[in-house]
Amino acid sequence: MDKTNENEKIEFDLILQAIYQKYGFDFRNYSKASIRRRIRYRLNQSNLKTISEMQHKLLYDRQFFGSLLLDLTINVTEMFRDPSFFKTLRKAVIPELKKQPFIKVWHAGCASGEEVYSTAILLKEEGLYESSLIYATDANDVVLDKAKSGIFSIDKMKDYTINYRKAGGLASFSDYYTARYDHAIMDNSLKKNIVFSNHNLVTDSVFGEMDIVMCRNVLIYFNRELQDRVFKLFRDSLRLGAFLCLGSKETVRFSSYSDNFENVAENEKIYRKNGECL
Ligand SMILES: C[S@@+](CC[C@H](N)C(=O)[O-])C[C@H]1O[C@@H](n2cnc3c(N)ncnc32)[C@H](O)[C@@H]1O
Repeated sequence: MDKTNENEKIEFDLILQAIYQKYGFDFRNYSKASIRRRIRYRLNQSNLKTISEMQHKLLYDRQFFGSLLLDLTINVTEMFRDPSFFKTLRKAVIPELKKQPFIKVWHAGCASGEEVYSTAILLKEEGLYESSLIYATDANDVVLDKAKSGIFSIDKMKDYTINYRKAGGLASFSDYYTARYDHAIMDNSLKKNIVFSNHNLVTDSVFGEMDIVMCRNVLIYFNRELQDRVFKLFRDSLRLGAFLCLGSKETVRFSSYSDNFENVAENEKIYRKNGECL
């Protein structure tokens, strides 16, 4: 490694160490390339010249940390994202859930909640919402507050309607929200069985006895070691025979917990916990 690269690596490591010690967010096991890209992006957006200057600002300016946190946690999401995933969920998972008296779902890394409302709609259409409890968690309180509000930009509703149809939606998507000025307000009946709370996959512990854990487009930002920690957390949070759903670019297959899960739909990244870990 040449001197410039070596110094740059030390500077990035120090930034992550500072964030951890000062604010308790541990990004040290996130994928390096993505984290460095985000830090450089914030550097370019502010009037700072060097990473060292940024380190100082980070330690003394909580608001600046807030902006960097939003950059680092990448909160992009949409309703019925990857519609074929929701279609498969309806076809392959819902019939199994219908055999149970009560259903517990955990959306880990739910961002601003679009995915959570999508699941709520699906459960409602399948007659399962009233017997379900959905835990929606994220490490970032800013996006979590948006999720709680259930208010989204009206501009997005056109694309979401297309996704909803492709996902096999049974009604009209507009039945689920009220349009007010430039906002869409999600129906209160979708919210009542959702519990929003802060949970950090790096530092927090299991949620017991889930029937589904959905953690889509989150693990992609973690290194192998951290992915393993989270797969263990999910395995221990799922009851036997329960479902794990990941994002399109994620898989449990190359992790240390691969043997604990069977394929339900590998293309859609839906797995089922088996008895291997007992
Ligand atoms: C790209 S979004 C994915 C949102 C949604 N699951 C989807 O697929 O559309 C990634 C989310 O993971 C959250 N996240 C990142 N690190 C996390 C951690 N350690 N614990 C919990 N959530 C985390 C971010 O705050 C962000 O909201």
